[in-house]
Amino acid sequence: LPPLRIGLAGLGTVGAAVLRLLERQAEVLTRRTGRKILVVAVSARDAAKQRGVDLSRFKWFDDPADLAKYGEIDLFVELIGGADGVALACVEAALGAGKSCVTANKALLAKHGMRLARLAEEKAVALSFEASVAGGIPIVKTLREGLAGNSIERVYGILNGTCNYILSRMETEGLSFEQCLSEAQKLGYAEADPTFDIGGFDTAHKLAILTSLAFGTVIDASAIAIEGIESISLADLEAASELGYRVKLLGVARRTPDGIEQRVHPTMVPKSSAIAQVMGVTNAVTIDADAVHELTLVGPGAGGEATASAIVADIADIARGVRSPPFGLPVATLSEAENAPMQLH
Ligand code: NDP
Ligand code: HSE
Repeated sequence: LPPLRIGLAGLGTVGAAVLRLLERQAEVLTRRTGRKILVVAVSARDAAKQRGVDLSRFKWFDDPADLAKYGEIDLFVELIGGADGVALACVEAALGAGKSCVTANKALLAKHGMRLARLAEEKAVALSFEASVAGGIPIVKTLREGLAGNSIERVYGILNGTCNYILSRMETEGLSFEQCLSEAQKLGYAEADPTFDIGGFDTAHKLAILTSLAFGTVIDASAIAIEGIESISLADLEAASELGYRVKLLGVARRTPDGIEQRVHPTMVPKSSAIAQVMGVTNAVTIDADAVHELTLVGPGAGGEATASAIVADIADIARGVRSPPFGLPVATLSEAENAPMQLH
């Protein structure tokens, strides 16, 4: 097979980690996929910025939308972020040009995922997004492929590493909310605008994607009731602790007689429960399904290398010629009117 040629846009925490991981695992990936995986071109805002990776062997594009259409790439990897603007423009351009796309951008998918999935289907290319939910945990594959024989009743968990890091550090170290958030930013866990993390919106974006995968519904983040952790104080955590509880920001989607209920909010969980043991940047996703009953995946929810692991898994699938329908069902079979999750507000 000829090499898979990649154009990678966004060279921040995740993008630079993807370059490093592809380089470190080049031989293994060639053995596993039967072909070489080559990054041929890259794009970011600042061509002069030092990123701890040698960019001299890649063609540089100032505009990621030009990279997306570059004739010498087979696959476009979007690691810029943001629901609209440049990220949307370049993913649309790449799919429109018949190139497969890999993205970690849950904000983009929560808003435009169905339309982008239809475009990918029309062009018979892949739109892959394992890294968009729960960092290094392979939850997309688990729901779409591993649990294909199950009916899912509920999917819930800790889906934001930054919030779990903040709540854990506040409780165990007695640090202030602001100090913990600043640490999470320095460690590369937080979104460019951390309001998305602490306001619960990032969890909602991820939950909307999980809901679509689990229940075969269209993505509908607007149906989610959202409460974040901004107003949680050390005193709240201490009070919960005295009663035998920890506070966790949970995203929950479950089947009800009226449709799929989706919500995001801080929740008191008993200290003895499994979910209460999930500390730091770690995420956990539990699925209640008829054949497996209960399944929980726990792992790193944010950070460059863990997220790169998920991106590289998608790249490896595409190198092998695997093109899963983005949201578990062919998108053409999903009817927005019939399948929208129920509105909560
Ligand atoms: P960063 O902010 O670290 O990196 C963003 C990159 O995009 C930078 O290289 C930046 O360029 C580039 N960029 C921004 N705007 C433009 C533009 N207009 N034109 C060209 N390039 C641009 O973000 P992350 O790496 O943390 O996140 C990337 C994506 O991955 C986001 O969608 C995020 O939600 C998602 N994600 C992040 C995780 C994490 O743990 N960090 C985990 C899972 C998903 P420059 O460097 O020159 O400024
Ligand atoms: N900001 C996100 C988080 C990155 O903290 O979980 C991973 O999606």
